[in-house]
Amino acid sequence: MYFVWMDLSHKSWKKIKNMVHWSPFVMSFKKKYPWIQLAGHAGSFKAGANGRILKKHCESEQRCLSLLMKDVLRPYVPGYHGDVEKDGQRYNQMEDLLADFDLPCVMDCKMGVRTYLEEELTKARKKPSVRADMYLKMMEVDPEAPTAEEQEQKAVTKPRYMQWRETISSTSTLGFRIEGIKKEDGTVSRDFKKTKRREQVTAAFEDFVKGNHGILNCYMSRLEEIRDTLEDSPFFKAHEVIGSSLLFVHDNKGRAKVWMIDFGKTTPLSEGEELNHRAPWVEGNREDGYLIGLDCLLDIIRTMAAQTQP
Ligand SMILES: Nc1ncnc2c1ncn2[C@@H]1O[C@H](COP(=O)(O)OP(=O)(O)O)[C@@H](O)[C@H]1O
Ligand SMILES: [Mg+2]
Repeated sequence: MYFVWMDLSHKSWKKIKNMVHWSPFVMSFKKKYPWIQLAGHAGSFKAGANGRILKKHCESEQRCLSLLMKDVLRPYVPGYHGDVEKDGQRYNQMEDLLADFDLPCVMDCKMGVRTYLEEELTKARKKPSVRADMYLKMMEVDPEAPTAEEQEQKAVTKPRYMQWRETISSTSTLGFRIEGIKKEDGTVSRDFKKTKRREQVTAAFEDFVKGNHGILNCYMSRLEEIRDTLEDSPFFKAHEVIGSSLLFVHDNKGRAKVWMIDFGKTTPLSEGEELNHRAPWVEGNREDGYLIGLDCLLDIIRTMAAQTQP
């Protein structure tokens, strides 16, 4: 300590203080990787200090993260460190899950059999606006999708569009969909909107893990832990979990982990109400199918692991 002080004594105290405070953060960021945002809204993240990231503040996400810090799920969500203000914007401060990896490969899987809240569907139903823009989006993906009546009107209603959108990816059938993948070579793909069938999803996973048996096994046991913990979690029972993702991260040192992220749309049920997250969704029961998706993900990864060489 004395030596450091002597060596730097010609510099102003302010400079020394800044160096001491900032060097570990700058170094680890520079050395390892440029931070990567795979999905979600552009511009909603900022680098923070000390292995943390800042995500634009959202009241309901803050509420969930605070509750999760006291739940059995805590080891499977990014550590939450309260909110901060930076350049006039409020942020939630959380653990950077990529910080311990070298050139991480990352995949974001959005969980559940639907990605809108029941409340959003009810609202859209009350005021069923007829939308030409949504009709055009539908036509772009599948010109056969609109009914004869919709073709004639050149428009669809919003609830119709919301429900149709979930059927083009694997969301409504497998209970999850791939949002984005970043591979070791740095390439990022977000082109999974129409990745629907189990074989298509498996092919994307294969490209992500490159047949690495060890990594598949790590992912498998981590997902099993997450599933078992979800089944015991008071938080999970009491929330409609919509739009939340599982973030898969591995690197070429053989490290591999999965975390639950994104609680912006996760909504509490009324006092005394519970979901089991496996029951099929029938409008009104608020079931989100999170565990349908997780069971299916586990089954795909288990099958892949059984087919690769240890
Ligand atoms: N704690 C974290 N650590 C590392 N990467 C993260 C973390 N949280 C989010 N990300 C990255 O940012 C992306 C978008 O995050 P998300 O919370 O889903 O934002 P949005 O609410 O905009 O969808 C994720 O796909 C992931 O790549
Ligand atoms: Mg997201």
